[in-house]
Amino acid sequence: MLKGITRTLSTAAIAGVMLSSGMALAASEPASNPGKALAAKAGVPWPAVIAHRGASFNAPEETIPSYTLARELGADYLEMDIQRTKDGVLIALHDDTLQRTTNINEVFPDRATQPVSSFTLDELKRLDAGSWFNKAYPDRARASYAGLKILTLDEVIDIAEGGKNKPGLYIETKVPTQFPGIEEDLKKKLDQRGWLSERPAAEKGHVNVAHLPGRVVLQTFEKSSLELLQKSMPDTPKVLLLWLGDGSIAAASETSFKDSGAKDKASFYASQQVKSKEEFAAWMDWAKEHGAIGTGPASALKNGGDQSYMDLVKPWMNKMAHDRGLIIHPYTVDDAVDFKAISANGVDGFFTNRTSELLKFYGRPSKESMESILKRIGY
Ligand code: G3P
Ligand code: CA
Repeated sequence: MLKGITRTLSTAAIAGVMLSSGMALAASEPASNPGKALAAKAGVPWPAVIAHRGASFNAPEETIPSYTLARELGADYLEMDIQRTKDGVLIALHDDTLQRTTNINEVFPDRATQPVSSFTLDELKRLDAGSWFNKAYPDRARASYAGLKILTLDEVIDIAEGGKNKPGLYIETKVPTQFPGIEEDLKKKLDQRGWLSERPAAEKGHVNVAHLPGRVVLQTFEKSSLELLQKSMPDTPKVLLLWLGDGSIAAASETSFKDSGAKDKASFYASQQVKSKEEFAAWMDWAKEHGAIGTGPASALKNGGDQSYMDLVKPWMNKMAHDRGLIIHPYTVDDAVDFKAISANGVDGFFTNRTSELLKFYGRPSKESMESILKRIGY
């Protein structure tokens, strides 16, 4: 969450496609979940497995192995953050600077803190976007990750199209105010690649999200970007990402982390509450009125960690969203204990770094091991 760091198929036909794609019921599915019908209406798989930056627990985020592994494991969606290079190319990258996930300090020492938008694609392609992962996670390191490249949107589309599983794309306009016109650029690229008009079917027994109206889901934290996405791509499903404070939903307290006395960020975030039910309802109403089919709320995780944020998936919040016809995809959840607890509150899938674990939770584990897939795809 960048703000937190620096801040026409019929419904019946769609349901048939979704069932034939091997979808199983969640282990803790409530007796009745209105989100299931809402997802079918929007043409989005339920419950959805959204591979956050690819299978990014096991391979460097937003690179060839992370997306290919997610596709081969059976994710419904490959999630990506888009930004734009100085020469106008859409790329997949989360941070708006390059120091965390590349060797920018070595390649361009004088420009190391400059924003992504100040580099051409050719310059970005000179960076190593894999070695940082090996240093950060030695237990998951692979020599073949060294030297991985930042990907363009075109290259991520190639990966989504390139296997027997046909996942969709779940695309976030990242820091969109830095990239005026990126929503229209995105439309042009998706259109050019046929992703706004074609819905190819996968072979039986394979992930078939490309065949659904929700082949692409667009997501953003920024209301202004949601409005522009809606204007450019009115028929493409959209999700408003939710956060507390910092220009998003108002929090009950304005005390900063520094002044809070909390022992870590996760504890601080978990203590944060929405200012009022009316405030939350106003955001749900706004999302619905501006074309969203769902929300992407932050969630607090049982064991904390740097992905543990505010609890915006309380049962009353989920009911408010569902009552307005909005589905709910919380971010970013990796552990069974959280899949179970948050699912019981009534949500419709998860953003996860651990595609394999969420697939297991939903009762449709990959038949092939992660190790075998990684070797087969060349890593
Ligand atoms: O897009 C959902 C989730 O990815 C939002 O957080 O910062 O990982 O993009 P972030
Ligand atoms: Ca994202």
